[in-house]
Amino acid sequence: MTTERTPYVPKGFPFVGVLLRLRRDPLGTFTQLAREHSGLVQLRKNWFFVSSPADVQRVLAGPVPYTKGAFSKAVSSNTVDPLQEALGEGLLTSEGDAWKRQRRLSQPAYHKQRLRTLVPAMVGAAQSLVDRWAVPAQRGESIDAVEEMRRVGLDTMGRTLFSVPIGGDADEFGSALGESVVITNEKFWSLIPNFAWLPTARNRHWRKLMDTINSGVHQRIQQRQKDSSEYSDMLSIYMSVRDEQTGEGMSEKQLRDEMMTLLIAGHDSTAQALCWTLHLLAEYPEAQQRVRAEVKEVLGDRPPTAEDLPRLAYTLRVIHESMRLYPPAWLLVRSPTQDDVIDGCHVPARSVVLSCPFVTHRRPDLWEDPDRFDPDRFTAERSTSRPRYAYFPFGGGGRQCIGNTFALQEMQIILALVVQRYQLTSMPGHPVELQAALTLRPKNALRVKVSANAA
Ligand code: HEM
Repeated sequence: MTTERTPYVPKGFPFVGVLLRLRRDPLGTFTQLAREHSGLVQLRKNWFFVSSPADVQRVLAGPVPYTKGAFSKAVSSNTVDPLQEALGEGLLTSEGDAWKRQRRLSQPAYHKQRLRTLVPAMVGAAQSLVDRWAVPAQRGESIDAVEEMRRVGLDTMGRTLFSVPIGGDADEFGSALGESVVITNEKFWSLIPNFAWLPTARNRHWRKLMDTINSGVHQRIQQRQKDSSEYSDMLSIYMSVRDEQTGEGMSEKQLRDEMMTLLIAGHDSTAQALCWTLHLLAEYPEAQQRVRAEVKEVLGDRPPTAEDLPRLAYTLRVIHESMRLYPPAWLLVRSPTQDDVIDGCHVPARSVVLSCPFVTHRRPDLWEDPDRFDPDRFTAERSTSRPRYAYFPFGGGGRQCIGNTFALQEMQIILALVVQRYQLTSMPGHPVELQAALTLRPKNALRVKVSANAA
């Protein structure tokens, strides 16, 4: 393979490369590296970083096939991938033929028409959220957006997957799911390897959480197998799909792994995206007022139907701008299955190639005044000249997020119901710090004051 160039190697870290710096401050370090060099950056032997849209496209969408590799094994000291430990072999964590089959089987659940039928369930979860806020609003108190968006995200998944809400105060299943995400995030960057087989208190606690979650999922699947009523939720679609080639459906284990993947992947990224969006709306009252005016015009005081969603166009732009500034999936990891050439440089098979939407989304050569919150960047006119991979919060190529339309629909609904009823105000004295764990999240609680809209 002929290549003309050698990749850019940042100076000053001859043995370990920049990995220690990356571990300490991943977002700052990646941002700095992209400023130093816009093309391929070599982090250490067979480790690379790309940030230009053309290079990101090559890695995510081919033509050379890339695998995801064991995501967190690649970037942390884990001996067992904590994500795989929780999710098993679901769509997010599987590879090769197993992934292909699952993706083919899962696809019918995500057709636009099917997703529209989930709108009432999503409205139900959003309604329960805004009802819950009546008390803090009356008392003039703030809410913790991190916790509240986690709850509504899980509740949405419960209602859309199983037609049953998740997350009441005494809901052991919901608490275990929430805690499992917190622990998986902790394990992700941990310097202590994840020796999952050691009988430590932490591992025992983890096993207990997994047992609670597994039995919760199994119970829901088994109840459904005995139930002859008609359901139009995601579980019923997953149970009814058949492989065109073999005529077989999903095994009980596959169903468990897929439901678990959707519960976790489906609620955590969406919860983080919503949390950042509430924060931005509280910080930018004019944008908040525009969302409210749009919701008022399209919906008045009623909840949205599927037909309303395309008309909530500014609300959707706010969501995109929020995910540009704070992409929940902030790091994507890939590995080429054969030698490749990126940016004119040789990249050997099985290297680790990282891309970071947080960095590409803020590159000054792609985005004017990149740190500024400006939802109108996403109008059709202002988007036409932008390269496809200048913005990729849902990844890209064959492994692009299967739940992207689901997530956008859910976020539009939740935001519409929130601004219909409440004003959001930021709380001085509560600085927001970023934590780049498995997803990009606020480091601590994110306090937002909610007060009822004037009648
Ligand atoms: C704002 C919300 C969301 C964001 C930002 C997001 C982001 C992503 C990204 C970036 C990937 C690709 C990861 C990679 O290439 O390594 C992905 C994959 C995936 N997401 Fe999402 N996601 C969101 C919501 C959802 C929802 C609501 C669901 C389910 C209903 C979902 C299910 C999945 C699944 C199953 C995969 C694996 C797809 C495959 O590999 O074939 N996601 N997501």
